[in-house]
Amino acid sequence: MSPPTHHFDFVVIGSGIAGLSFALKIAPRFRVAIVTKRWAAESNTNYAQGGIAAVTGGDDSVELHVKDTLAAGAGLCRETVVRQILTEGPSRVAELIELGMRFTEEEGESPDGERHFDLGREGGHSRRRILHAKDATGREIERALLAGVAAQPNIRVFEEHFAIDFITTRKLGHSGENRCVGVYVLDKAAGRVETFACRSVLLATGGCGKVYLYTTNPDVATGDGVAMAYRAGARVANMEFVQFHPTCLYHPKAKSFLVTEAVRGEGGVLRTVDGVEFMDRHHPLKSLAPRDVVARAIDSEMKRTGAAHVLLDITHKPARFIIDRFPNIYQTCLKFGMDITKEPIPVVPAAHYQCGGVVATVDGETAIAGLLAVGEVSCTGLHGANRLASNSLLEGLVCAHRAAEKMLAAPPDFSELQMPDWQLGKAQNADELVVVSHNWDEIRRTMWDYVGIVRTTKRLERAQKRIALLQEEIQQYYWDFVVASDLLELRNIATVAELIVASALQRAESRGLHYNLDFQKADPAWAQRDTILSRAR
Ligand code: FUM
Repeated sequence: MSPPTHHFDFVVIGSGIAGLSFALKIAPRFRVAIVTKRWAAESNTNYAQGGIAAVTGGDDSVELHVKDTLAAGAGLCRETVVRQILTEGPSRVAELIELGMRFTEEEGESPDGERHFDLGREGGHSRRRILHAKDATGREIERALLAGVAAQPNIRVFEEHFAIDFITTRKLGHSGENRCVGVYVLDKAAGRVETFACRSVLLATGGCGKVYLYTTNPDVATGDGVAMAYRAGARVANMEFVQFHPTCLYHPKAKSFLVTEAVRGEGGVLRTVDGVEFMDRHHPLKSLAPRDVVARAIDSEMKRTGAAHVLLDITHKPARFIIDRFPNIYQTCLKFGMDITKEPIPVVPAAHYQCGGVVATVDGETAIAGLLAVGEVSCTGLHGANRLASNSLLEGLVCAHRAAEKMLAAPPDFSELQMPDWQLGKAQNADELVVVSHNWDEIRRTMWDYVGIVRTTKRLERAQKRIALLQEEIQQYYWDFVVASDLLELRNIATVAELIVASALQRAESRGLHYNLDFQKADPAWAQRDTILSRAR
């Protein structure tokens, strides 16, 4: 029996802030499928601690937010894009609140009877402007958006469904404009590949932290969207700019646990394992310097002292304050035997955010008609060479809204094309899963060791050779065996690793998050120049 073909107006891949917001906006008029490879709330958004940066404070202005974003972006932001997103941010945040999002409010009686939100501060921000839900903002966003989705009869959520590849007119053998008309999706439980036909696909799969050995991201962050889009012929930009978050909890049993930058925003201080403050030697903003600077400083202190981590110390603040403001971090550390009100937190940098991605406009449009990309998977020009903290959830929210507006105003037609079932070819059941786990580990270690916070051309070239060999092996394995989610993720992280290394080798300078010891300065010739990769056809 052949697997089912589903027909929806729109297929959304990913269930973080971008995908869910788009689905909610479009659903009053159109039928939407949300395809997500684990359960609905499991996304990068769900793990965001800090919050959403948006201008709401009386001492703040869009102009200041723009200035901070451009400064962090190190000459590579698109200023018009920055202005559009940051200007529209406050209205989109207001809609989120309307939907039921509960941001933390200031304590005490409001003098003017209005609601006042408690605004956090993070690195690179000249004002307190981060709206947050204590230290688990992403979880609250997912709760609010998923409650909205559950109430919307036009949306169907396909959990445990893994999007494999887009169905494009080019793939179907048609000449002319390359158009995305659907997507092949693995139903993990049924073990079969289904066809989803639609007017348009919105890609909102988030980032690729799992390409690195150490990451703050959850297991789902395997760069699937970038890899799929690249295979389909989309343009991918600036993948060398991988943001390493300076403070991931260092503990043998803690997997990927972020310690939000807001801890430093509230006065937390970075120290060496001997208790000595060191950020004053690296930047005038000390522990609250932009992330690229802090991550490199920690890396250099760890190398200098030979220590496996540094310390983040907030013990000078009242215990009540720490427990109330950071309940999630407090409880998690307590589980590991650390009381952060009394002792500093051991931390290390870890891969956190993909600043590059599928080239997209602020309305989500990509080089492939019918394929929209929004959020971390996309590269709009907002982040430049280094994302300003907490700008990403805002980008997801604003661009999803704009993409939905565009689709509502001029919905694409359904394609009349015949879509063949997924070809299993000579696939048999995979019986050598050790190949998958071995290659998975090797890619992640190679990326960590050779394509990390501080790079050299020689190390990048070494990584390129190894990844090319692994790619060959994976390709062979892929076509020989039945597709399973582990194998699909491996193929995707290998592709994304290839793109990161290729982009890093192209950029013969150091800028923002890309630091190469062989070119230690920014080269003005590279300012405003993106590294663009697209599969040769
Ligand atoms: O530190 C944090 O809470 C992270 C914020 C972000 O990546 O935007």
